[in-house]
Amino acid sequence: MTIDYAPTQKATDRAAAIDRLIEAEQARFASRHPKSAAAWARGREHYLYGGPSHWMRRWAGGFPIYAEAASGAHIQDIDGHDYVDFCLGDTGGMCGHAPEPVTRAALHQLQRGTTMMLPTLDSLWVGEELTRRFGLPYWTLTTSATDANRGAIRIARMITGRDKVLVFSGCYHGGVEEAHVEIRNGKIGMRNMIHPNAVDHAAVSRVVEFNDVAALEQALKAGDVACVLTEPLMTNFGMIPVEPGFHDALRRLTRETGTLLVIDETHTISCGPGGYTALNGLEPDMLVAGKAIAGGIPAGIFGLSQAVAERMWQIVPHANPKQRQSAHLGIGGTLAGNALTVATMKAVLEEVLTEANYARMIALATRLADEARALISRSRRPWHVTQIGARAEIMFTPKVPRSGADVIATRQGDLETLLHAFYMNEGILVTPFHTMFLMCPASTEEDVARHTEVFARFIELLEREGIAG
Ligand SMILES: Cc1ncc(COP(=O)(O)O)c(C=O)c1O
Repeated sequence: MTIDYAPTQKATDRAAAIDRLIEAEQARFASRHPKSAAAWARGREHYLYGGPSHWMRRWAGGFPIYAEAASGAHIQDIDGHDYVDFCLGDTGGMCGHAPEPVTRAALHQLQRGTTMMLPTLDSLWVGEELTRRFGLPYWTLTTSATDANRGAIRIARMITGRDKVLVFSGCYHGGVEEAHVEIRNGKIGMRNMIHPNAVDHAAVSRVVEFNDVAALEQALKAGDVACVLTEPLMTNFGMIPVEPGFHDALRRLTRETGTLLVIDETHTISCGPGGYTALNGLEPDMLVAGKAIAGGIPAGIFGLSQAVAERMWQIVPHANPKQRQSAHLGIGGTLAGNALTVATMKAVLEEVLTEANYARMIALATRLADEARALISRSRRPWHVTQIGARAEIMFTPKVPRSGADVIATRQGDLETLLHAFYMNEGILVTPFHTMFLMCPASTEEDVARHTEVFARFIELLEREGIAG
């Protein structure tokens, strides 16, 4: 099918017009947020990059709003504005803000002690439930998904004796050094403007394009890769869906070469209670998740297959009762698996991320995606929308990318910045790094309708200003 897109315009005129609009939206943002602007100015006096975490400076308005309170799918800022929150803490808030079961469990546990270096009985239920959902028999709790990925990588290296980690170009797995790489101009380079740090990534990382079976085969055939670390489909460079047959090839090639397969479900847990893995019957050697898993209390998890666990026990046996100092695994986290985290994780798994709530969330994401697609096609724009469970993504690229290379070649970063600044001025939050919409159990039809109305006005703005494409 050929699509009759609106005519293109001269690239420089277009870029200048978008820049002007970004400036206008940022000026509108500054005038609407005097208290946040003042707080940001103060924050810069004592935080390295203005806020408690450096990425807080990346909101498209020019500075972040300061949150006053958040409840369900809404956030109120200190300037008195209310936002429909589709960012949801870039998935950390996927249970909604202050979900009642999590708040109740947290308050209960806060009064009984949070971190005691001891397991609680809740942990037994949580371990059983993780196995029921994700299929893997043995679990470890961490304080973040980053930590869970680091733990999985360390174990993969321990049991294979290999040092290399293979990732797909365009990936993000948290602060995992081996994954800060991508392919640019045919060479391995730092991902998406991550600054180099003198680590020789070429020595410990291997990177290939997603969905490229031949490149994967080539990269694994030397038998020196400890593990492939991948999301089941890519969510962090916009969304890059997986092509039919890719997972079968990935599993076959990793098995043939003795490479472990680590599936990172931190974002794709939006697919359903057991993530993409359970929905599609994947068979990872290890599975990682985090963010939403304890309802916003810092937590990560990683699970091991029976075979991987047995290999670990050969290297590091269960503690010998006569020898009280058991070997340290080199996987950290004094606060990992603490009583508070475990209590909130139980609340999430039992009462929040339930089948029924997923069904509602997925229906809302479907509506948002359908309505955005209708607006895009009516305005004959070369954009598209991808949806995976409760998560949808608008991408300013003419076709669905099949790899990071496609995103690099076609992404329109300036248009994304403009849209995000416009959204913030119109009371909508999306993740600042790309245009991702996530639903939580408290999201409503009105929230979705609000997005459709704002997105329609954004397209009208572009039309009024003569910006095509
Ligand atoms: C797929 C994936 N894995 C891991 C992480 C790291 O999560 P955290 O920053 O909570 O450690 C992220 C963060 O965005 C992610 O998207």
